[in-house]
Amino acid sequence: MTPPVLRVSGLTKVFGGREREALELAAQGVGRAEVLRRTGATVAVHDVSFAVERGELFVVMGLSGSGKSTLVRLLNRLIEPSAGTVEIDGRDLRALGDAELRTVRNEKISMVFQHFALLPHRTVRENAAYALKVRGAPAAEQRERADWALETVGLLDRAGARPDELSGGMRQRVGLARALAADSEVLLMDEPFSALDPLIRRDMQDLLERLQSELSKTIVFITHDLNEAMRLGDRILMLKDGRTVQLGTGPEIIAAPADDYVADFTSDVDRTRVLTAGDLAREPRLTARLGADPGDVLRSLAAADADGVYVLDDDRRLVGVARDDLLARAVQEGRTTLGPQELGGDHATVPAGTPVNQFVHLVGRHVVPLGVVDDGGRLLGVVPRAAVLDALSAVPARRSTP
Ligand SMILES: Nc1ncnc2c1ncn2[C@@H]1O[C@H](COP(=O)(O)OP(=O)(O)O)[C@@H](O)[C@H]1O
Ligand SMILES: [Mg+2]
Repeated sequence: MTPPVLRVSGLTKVFGGREREALELAAQGVGRAEVLRRTGATVAVHDVSFAVERGELFVVMGLSGSGKSTLVRLLNRLIEPSAGTVEIDGRDLRALGDAELRTVRNEKISMVFQHFALLPHRTVRENAAYALKVRGAPAAEQRERADWALETVGLLDRAGARPDELSGGMRQRVGLARALAADSEVLLMDEPFSALDPLIRRDMQDLLERLQSELSKTIVFITHDLNEAMRLGDRILMLKDGRTVQLGTGPEIIAAPADDYVADFTSDVDRTRVLTAGDLAREPRLTARLGADPGDVLRSLAAADADGVYVLDDDRRLVGVARDDLLARAVQEGRTTLGPQELGGDHATVPAGTPVNQFVHLVGRHVVPLGVVDDGGRLLGVVPRAAVLDALSAVPARRSTP
């Protein structure tokens, strides 16, 4: 297995005050406000650990003041940790000298700020090429990479414009193009879309999703908006007062929020967008093999109190649905192997990644539950109507309070 691109262990940052005392108190579980009162120090981030895989979009989310910006600045050593380590491609950042650190920031892990800090007197193309210029890349390469990046974000036709000639959304895209042109392994994005109005924000999210699926960038994305986190994140780290309260996929967090803080966020989330067919799929109670004895299949249907059954070939590929009446006729007519004549029942299938809001109308309309299939048409599971209703109506399981 390849090592994670980014590995963070026990990362901790204390600002001001009596640091050692603050660290001891924090390690005993004393909360941030109390530590501040007793030591004058702010424990901005405490004992955070996680690993980000190559190509993963990893979201860090929490309320304002939860330590997100501090965490992201620790990741590229813009600030020094009070304790803990950050490894990029297996190398401990603390072991690097200044020159090496600059190279790492330029080539391995680059930061995309909220306002993208475009250079006002340079063209869009020069802005996009900026990191490459700093790196000392040849002019032809700068231009080629910048133009590719601008094309990727849909702005190549504005390459000669200056930032103040562009709309806010376009400027954000120039910032994104700069990060793409730099082609660093990890992109750090600290609330890049928070200042945008909702429609442009939506466009930027779409663009980022597309870039990530096409380019497989490794991204650490900071947000305080759980809908944005759910939409973009492969996994989400929930921070509260500098500590990890939960780390999981969006559906995992929705299904079982770790505490009231997380549950408060999840109550605002549109579950039909987050939960997918794959999340709700379960093993079918019954399937039949092509070529099986129709009488046997009919008996198992009767035992399971079902009206039809998915029929699979030897590779689990779905070939159709056998309905009880057609099976009965096959038995009457003396047929002994299940074949095309028995495959009369209609059904519906969706890929595992389909969100509930795109398949809810298909659920419960056939003799068999909605099927979930992979790219090769193999049956991964089924989604009975009750599973959808249950998931949408579920009140998130909160930690019981005394
Ligand atoms: N340079 C600093 N000096 C002192 N305290 C800081 C500094 N930077 C951040 N903090 C404090 O650390 C905590 C976390 O801040 P921050 O990381 O900016 O949170 P977020 O990005 O989630 O809003 C806050 O209490 C903030 O006031
Ligand atoms: Mg912040």
